[in-house]
Amino acid sequence: MPNPLIDSLLKAVAASPHDVPLRLHLADLLLAEGRSGEAIAQAAYALQTDPTSAEAQALMARALGGSPSAQAAPDAPTDTPAEPAPRRAFPAPDAAATDDPASAPTPAVEPQDADDWDRAAADLLDAAASGRGTGGIAEPLRDGEEPAPADEVWDVEEPKVTLADVGGLQDVKDRLEVSFLAPLRNPELRSMYGKSLRGGLLLYGPPGCGKTFIARAVAGEMGARFINVTLTDVLDMYVGNSEANLHGIFEIARGRTPCVIFLDEIDAIGQKRSQTRHSATRGVVNQLLQELDGIGSDNEGVYVLAATNTPWDIDPALRRPGRLDRTVLVLPPDEAARLAILGHGFADRPTQGLDLARVAKQTDGYTGADLAHLCESAAEAAMMASIRTGSPQPITQRDVQAALKDVRPSAGPWFETARNVVEYADRSGEYDALRDYMQRRRLL
Ligand SMILES: Nc1ncnc2c1ncn2[C@@H]1O[C@H](COP(=O)(O)OP(=O)(O)OP(=O)(O)O)[C@@H](O)[C@H]1O
Ligand SMILES: [Mg+2]
Repeated sequence: MPNPLIDSLLKAVAASPHDVPLRLHLADLLLAEGRSGEAIAQAAYALQTDPTSAEAQALMARALGGSPSAQAAPDAPTDTPAEPAPRRAFPAPDAAATDDPASAPTPAVEPQDADDWDRAAADLLDAAASGRGTGGIAEPLRDGEEPAPADEVWDVEEPKVTLADVGGLQDVKDRLEVSFLAPLRNPELRSMYGKSLRGGLLLYGPPGCGKTFIARAVAGEMGARFINVTLTDVLDMYVGNSEANLHGIFEIARGRTPCVIFLDEIDAIGQKRSQTRHSATRGVVNQLLQELDGIGSDNEGVYVLAATNTPWDIDPALRRPGRLDRTVLVLPPDEAARLAILGHGFADRPTQGLDLARVAKQTDGYTGADLAHLCESAAEAAMMASIRTGSPQPITQRDVQAALKDVRPSAGPWFETARNVVEYADRSGEYDALRDYMQRRRLL
C-alpha cells in the first residue's frame, strides 16, 4: 500500500543523503510497514554516515532480529551484517553514497535504546495518521530549507462560543472573571489597583470536562482571537526547530492582539526537567519561560491559558509567579450542569418526550465529553430506526436509556492517579480543591 509519508521521506532522503535522523525516521516507518529489507538498507546507510549513532544501531538490531517481519537469514550468526537489501529500494543516492550498504560496520547492539526509539516512531505515526491540529504532519526539512512561517501553520480563530455555552463550571467561570475578564473590561481599574494581566492560568482536571471548550469560550467572551496550540505538535513539526516555532506562535499573537494563546497538553513539554532526558524538550521549556516572561517583547494583550491532565508532572519553573501561576480545577459537571450540557446536545436534533432531568440525575460522574457522546449515541439509534422503518423517527427517552448502557463515565482512571498524588505527594496543599472534591465524593 503506498504510504505518502514514506514517499515524501524517500524524496527528502534522496535530497539530503547524509541526514541520519531523517534516514532513521524513514527506516523506522519502513519497518513498521513490514518492509524490513528496505529498513535494513536505510539503517546501513545511516551507520555508514555515523557509525556511532546509538539510534541507528538500535534500529539495525531491530530490523535484523527483533521484529517478526525481519528478513535476516534465520541461520546467519548474529554478528554478521544482513544480506544487502535490493538496490531498487534506494532513493537515487548521490555519488558519495553509492557504496554497498552492506559494507557498513557491524552494529553494536544496544537493545535498551530501542524502546525510546519505538515510542518516538509510534508518536510520529500517530501524528501522521491523525493529522493533528496542523492539517497533517509537516514534511521534514531539506538541507537549507526554511520552515514555513508560523502564521501559515497555526490557525488564528475568532471563536463564536461564549461562557454561556459552557454548562456548569460556575466557580471556574468566577475565577476566570476575576483574574481575566474583569480587569480586561476595566483598564482604568486595572491600572488603579495595579492588577497586571501578566502570567497565565493553568486549567487542569480529568479528560473531557471542558478545558479546551472553556478556553475557547474565554476568547469568544473577550472578543479576542484564539490560537490553539497542542504542544505535541510544536515538538513534532520540525525536529530541532521547536523553539523557533514557539517563538513564532507568540509573535503571531503579539501582532494580533487581543489574543488568547491556549497551550494544550502542556505536560508534553512542561515535565519536570529532571524527568526529561531529551534536551530538545528542555530547550522548549526554556523558550516558553522566555516567552511568558516577555523577554525582549511586549506581551500586552496576549493572554495565556494552558491545560493539562497531569499538573503534578509540570516543571515547577513554569508555575512561578508571573508565569502559569494560577491553577483552576475543571471537574466533571454537577447535576445542573449536566442538564445544561444535555439540553445543548439535543437542541438541534429531533426529539420527543425526553426527560432530561431524569437523565441528568442518572449520569452522576459523567464528564461533559461522555454526555456529548451519549447524545450522539441516542441520535444514532434514532437514525438507524429511521432507516429501518423508512420514516424519520425522533430521539426518544428509550434511545437515551439504551445509550446509557453503552456510554460509561470515563474519568475513573484519572481520579485513581489523582488519589496517589493527593494522598502522598501534595505537601504544599496545592491540590486542596481536588482533595475537597474527592472527599465529598468518597473518592479518597
Ligand atoms: N462544561 C461543558 N459544557 C458543555 N459541553 C462540554 C462541557 N464539558 C465538555 N463538553 C463537551 O465535551 C467536549 C470535550 O471537552 P473538552 O475537549 O473541552 O475537554 P478537555 O477537558 O479539554 O479534555 P482533554 O483533557 O481530553 O483535552 C467538548 O467539545 C464539549 O462538546
Ligand atoms: Mg482538551
